[in-house]
Amino acid sequence: KINPVLLCGGAGTRLWPLSRKSYPKQFVKLIGEESLFQASARRLTGTDFTAPSVVTAADFRFVVLEQLAAAEIAPADILIEPAAKNTAAAICAAALALEARTPGALMLIAPSDHVIPDADRFRATVAAAVPAALDGQLVTFGIRPDRPETGYGWLALSSVPTAEFAPTPQPLKGFVEKPDLATAEALLAGGMHLWNAGIFLFSTTTILAAFAAHAPEVLAATRAAFEAAEADLSFTRLAPDAWADCPEISIDYAVMEQANNLTVVPYGGAWSDLGDWQAVWRDGKADAQGVVKSGPATSIDCKDTLLQATSGAQQLVGIGLEGLVAIAMPDAVLVAHKDRTQDVKEAVIKLKAAA
Ligand code: GDD
Ligand code: MG
Repeated sequence: KINPVLLCGGAGTRLWPLSRKSYPKQFVKLIGEESLFQASARRLTGTDFTAPSVVTAADFRFVVLEQLAAAEIAPADILIEPAAKNTAAAICAAALALEARTPGALMLIAPSDHVIPDADRFRATVAAAVPAALDGQLVTFGIRPDRPETGYGWLALSSVPTAEFAPTPQPLKGFVEKPDLATAEALLAGGMHLWNAGIFLFSTTTILAAFAAHAPEVLAATRAAFEAAEADLSFTRLAPDAWADCPEISIDYAVMEQANNLTVVPYGGAWSDLGDWQAVWRDGKADAQGVVKSGPATSIDCKDTLLQATSGAQQLVGIGLEGLVAIAMPDAVLVAHKDRTQDVKEAVIKLKAAA
């Protein structure tokens, strides 16, 4: 069976002001009745999967419990990080915890902030990846790119996927994390790269060996933090002192860009990382003018614009706007150019420094 590992410690600052330090985007009902976190957990249920492990921050532990309970999913383990150290540490800690329970088990790393509407097709794709993972591969999932996205990782194919994007595993030639725009344009034009979905399948054995080879400092610090961890209700609290020594780095830079035992399985279904407001606009239900509205929002002669007023917010009216996002919350308003929404992160840093 496959052990889902749900990562939900990210702050999601690019979706400020909806996503807040104490309540980041994965727990917000951005679209539909469930939060992205609940939908991610539900996607990985069924006969192929064990109960999920969750890796998160202390601040989010009760939100996690509550939202899992509401979705009627019982977690196998909830690991609490003393501080956010990015995905390498979170994944390494989850691998050590799982290895202690079930040596050599398969783990599926799942971000909690993605939109993947066709759960059946997604599960079938994961199932197609199992033989490669059992064979010591680090398996990635590849999405057909349609723009020169600099916020994603790019996967170098060894052969072109079938037209219908069958989930046939193939060896990966390389992994390029978050390229600059010129590189992303070249990779898109070349036609031999897919986007990294940020979802990974491997065994505890394979990933722990990869950490030992490519990121030994991450392994040493997380191992010390796990060995000194404390059980607290249904949580496992990693030890803060050892954890503090862990380098802050993502799995993509720490392991994937270095490894040579990579496999990719193409995923042809719809997939979206609702990473910033431009992505929310792109994913939303647009009218003929490309305007996406949510809440008490009114558009007069706007074009390609997102107008999002959260419930309880003031009326939001846009007149003659083009290519903007406007987000109204009771205590904060964001107005930004659609092409600058990655920079919302900078605004949050600025506001924090001023506070
Ligand atoms: N527990 C925990 N702790 N989770 C974390 C932490 C942390 O310190 N940092 C991030 N996460 C979680 C986020 O909540 C998210 O669910 C997931 O890990 C991925 O982190 P992001 O910060 O959203 O990564 P990204 O979107 O910039 O890049 C990754 O995903 C892209 C696709 O969405 C990379 O894997 C890219 O290569 C990939 O294309
Ligand atoms: Mg992301």
